[in-house]
Amino acid sequence: MRLSVSVLLVASLLGLLLLPSTEAKKQNKGRGMKGARHKLSRVRGAGRHSRSDTSRIVAPNCAESTESGDVFIDCQERHLNTIPSAQAWSKQPKHLLLARNRIKVLRNRIFTGYEGLTSLDLQQNEISLVEEGAFQGLTQLTTLLLQHNRLSTLSEETIIPMPNLGYMRLYDNPWNCQCAMDSLVRTLQVPSNRNLGNHARCEEPIWLKGKKLKQLEAEQLCKELPPNDQGVRPSTSPQEPIPIRTKPESNAVCHTYLFPQVRMDCRNKGLTEVPAGIPDDVVQLDLSNNAIRHLKAKEFQSAKNLKVLNLSNNNMEHLDTDSLTGLLQLRELDLSNNLLQFVQYGVLEDLYFLSQLKLGGNPWVCDYSIHYMVYWLRLHPGVRYSGLLCRSPPEYTGEKVEEYINNYNRGCPKERPYNRPSADQTDPELWNTPQELQAELEEELEPSHLRVPQKYEIFRLS
Ligand SMILES: *[C@@H]1O[C@H](CO)[C@@H](O)[C@H](O)[C@H]1NC(C)=O
Repeated sequence: MRLSVSVLLVASLLGLLLLPSTEAKKQNKGRGMKGARHKLSRVRGAGRHSRSDTSRIVAPNCAESTESGDVFIDCQERHLNTIPSAQAWSKQPKHLLLARNRIKVLRNRIFTGYEGLTSLDLQQNEISLVEEGAFQGLTQLTTLLLQHNRLSTLSEETIIPMPNLGYMRLYDNPWNCQCAMDSLVRTLQVPSNRNLGNHARCEEPIWLKGKKLKQLEAEQLCKELPPNDQGVRPSTSPQEPIPIRTKPESNAVCHTYLFPQVRMDCRNKGLTEVPAGIPDDVVQLDLSNNAIRHLKAKEFQSAKNLKVLNLSNNNMEHLDTDSLTGLLQLRELDLSNNLLQFVQYGVLEDLYFLSQLKLGGNPWVCDYSIHYMVYWLRLHPGVRYSGLLCRSPPEYTGEKVEEYINNYNRGCPKERPYNRPSADQTDPELWNTPQELQAELEEELEPSHLRVPQKYEIFRLS
């Protein structure tokens, strides 16, 4: 159920038009070949009784599963160098996942028998050639993923057999933006094709390197260069200069998977900051094992559907107050194994639905600055959290942060050998009871534009 909701969500977010099943059946009747194939698969499948919704392994070692009536074939990362035969499956698949294999060429009619596909994921292969008739028969295909391959050219004829194609990824291929690409580029630029070929950029010729296919002047591609032009256009060329990119683009550095939900994998990319342009349909974002030091304000603001955010194993020292703004759907946040000493006042305020927070492996400092997080956690008892241990000052090393807070509230903080002077921290002498603090926090948490901590003069009766 959860899965079907997310599949629907993905589909609607992508603006895909999935045919209702009766409609699809009607269409199938009209096609003799397909009808025959349906019968065939029914006969072949007749002896099998395991039609449950659980995955099982079938030749060639791929997982076949059914989710809300749609058949998925998952052949990701199976060392395949060709498309497996459609005869291998007990039912006609709707979704074929072939990411991270070693496919190099797509020959004509290679998808014969796969006419029921609505999505085809071929990302992260080694495809350098797609023959013009490769996608013949995929009349129901709406989603085609070809990013992270080795394509330098693709003709428009290749995509003509797929009249329902609404979403095609082509980025991170070394596109050679010359005459052979003219008709494809024109097709991508038709305004109604707004989800075809976004983010794809030219690798060659040199004067177009970095330019988006969507933004090329198609008329220029088939123009002869003047004979004195030795491959490099003069600097007076009308082409815009290549923009200097200060931030890496998430689409260029990360891998995106669409099924069963939109997941972006940015692990181990040497990132020193959050990449730009995280698409707003991403549900899981994994930024673990990078070198991010600082979360800046509003970096995730567009990622309104994000439910899982993994920032573990970075070098994070600081989270700006507005860095998690907009993450209203976030369920899981992993901040473990960073360099965090405290969490800035206000950082957690948008995380209404957070249920899991991982905090281990950070050098949390048990002084006033940590109180915000502990009281936020108390105000949000539904959040399961782990790893909140004091690393310093020495008298609290290894203790639970909650223990330190309790000590504090009992008015008997341990001997402090030194005072951490800090301009933006309230004088610890003004500390108050949990009830007062809770009231104070609730008051402060109310209007977001008034999130600056106030100094209250509260006298403790002792
Ligand atoms: C985050 O990533 C780390 C390392 O890649 C992994 O061990 C951890 O389980 C992930 N956390 C979540 C919440 O998925």
